[in-house]
Amino acid sequence: KVLILDFGSQFTQLIGRRVRELNIYSEIHPYNKPPKNILDFKAIILSGSPLSVRGDDVAHPELDEIKGKKPILAICYGAQYLAHFGGGSVSPSNTREYGRANLSYIKENELFDHISEGSQVWMSHSDTIKELPTGATMLASTPDVENAAFKIEGEQTYAIQFHPEVYHSKDGKQLLENFLVHISGLEQTWTPDSFVETTVLALKEKLGDDRVILGLSGGVDSSVAAMLLHKAIGKNLHCIFVNNGLLRKNEFHDVLEQYEGMGLNVKGVDASARFLDELAGESDPEKKRKIIGRVFIEVFDDEAHLVENAKWLAQGTIYPDVIESVSVTGGPSATIKSHHNVGGLPDFMKLKVVEPLKMLFKDEVRRVGASMDMEKSILGRHPFPGPGLAIRILGDITAEKVRILQEVDAVFINGLKEWGLYDKVWQAGAMLLPVNSVGVMGDERTYEKCVALRAVESTDGMTADWVNLPYEFLQKTSNEIINKVRGVNRVVYDISSKPPATIEWE
Ligand code: XMP
Repeated sequence: KVLILDFGSQFTQLIGRRVRELNIYSEIHPYNKPPKNILDFKAIILSGSPLSVRGDDVAHPELDEIKGKKPILAICYGAQYLAHFGGGSVSPSNTREYGRANLSYIKENELFDHISEGSQVWMSHSDTIKELPTGATMLASTPDVENAAFKIEGEQTYAIQFHPEVYHSKDGKQLLENFLVHISGLEQTWTPDSFVETTVLALKEKLGDDRVILGLSGGVDSSVAAMLLHKAIGKNLHCIFVNNGLLRKNEFHDVLEQYEGMGLNVKGVDASARFLDELAGESDPEKKRKIIGRVFIEVFDDEAHLVENAKWLAQGTIYPDVIESVSVTGGPSATIKSHHNVGGLPDFMKLKVVEPLKMLFKDEVRRVGASMDMEKSILGRHPFPGPGLAIRILGDITAEKVRILQEVDAVFINGLKEWGLYDKVWQAGAMLLPVNSVGVMGDERTYEKCVALRAVESTDGMTADWVNLPYEFLQKTSNEIINKVRGVNRVVYDISSKPPATIEWE
């Protein structure tokens, strides 16, 4: 396995994913909290960083245990660190080097095997390595950066100024493969199939005959987690699928049927009325979230109590939720929306926790699901927020508003599917605005609701761009919504990026 020491670069997770794409297992740890078993890792990658090695708050990793003993690939900040503290020198670049560059010189060496001069690389740095550290040989240059790569002789320590993990470094994958497979001797055996096999065995071992409770949401993560556990312990997995009345049209029924078809031991609990009751009259987005969070926990707790002798609570937590992030820029990050609101500690939370996907990135969760033959309609599903349509109905929530939005959403989402656009969009949905506007239908004046459609491209929801959907599609969808959905006479399309807008409107 590969250790990635994080110095706070925005690309660190990308390094992790690129390594895994080569079917090699990787773990990300903060540079100042390296894992105890560091010598168990066959190779180490040092990430980039927003910091400067010349600044006051330099990130000093403890490399004594590994440098010269294990293969190291130092990227950007990592490379500058090795130079600056290894007898070389680093100074500010004349210009901030950002974006594409081409390697104009490559010395023949293992790291650059199968990579030719002219190869495009991605640069993002404001310091540059003026003098190489002691014992180093230069391996590659670009027209602007003489020391774009170097190796420390007598060690398997390599350093590069550019970012091989970024897509724009055309041969980045080849370079990582050269380092990991040819230089470090790692085997490419980390595949979805092998993950399923080892995880199912480990779960069997860990859980024995214990009963496990799992909350299904209809989403990819909880569904794949359930399938893994089902393979391991069968009927001892008790799944609970709660209808909060804020799901998409027919979703509760359809998804429940799908789960049953997968052989899962699942109980559908329709608590719609209770959620709507508790939400009545509340317009504040954060309060709506809190109510939904609390009621969900109450309903789930009641259901969990019905499973006698349960020992474990299974969760679909994935790797990006647990990677410890390095905060090098300081300052608390503002709570923009309270995504997870847990009041008190309900009984089911006293169970031991099992998280079979804890070490997987989202795309790996999908591939693991596919390797268990799960249906594409589950694996390819867009993300959907826990509070559901409640945060897409601006203002207070009523059964009638939910009905309207469910109809609108269904026209939009089915349309995306029919037009082959659904898989090209990361997330899509409709918002019911607290606005009435005037229209005409036939000879009648109408005064009805306005809905906004939103479709975004994203990789993780942290940033997003609106999707350039075909005008023809928007035209047809708008017509269909206004003609079919009673109570709506106006449709608009949201063309805001995140940031500064968010994906959801509340
Ligand atoms: P925003 O609106 O913050 O959304 O740009 C980013 C992603 O998070 C989802 N989202 C939520 N998910 N509970 C959730 O489980 C929430 O309260 C919540 N709010 C937003 C949103 O759908 C998008 O995928």
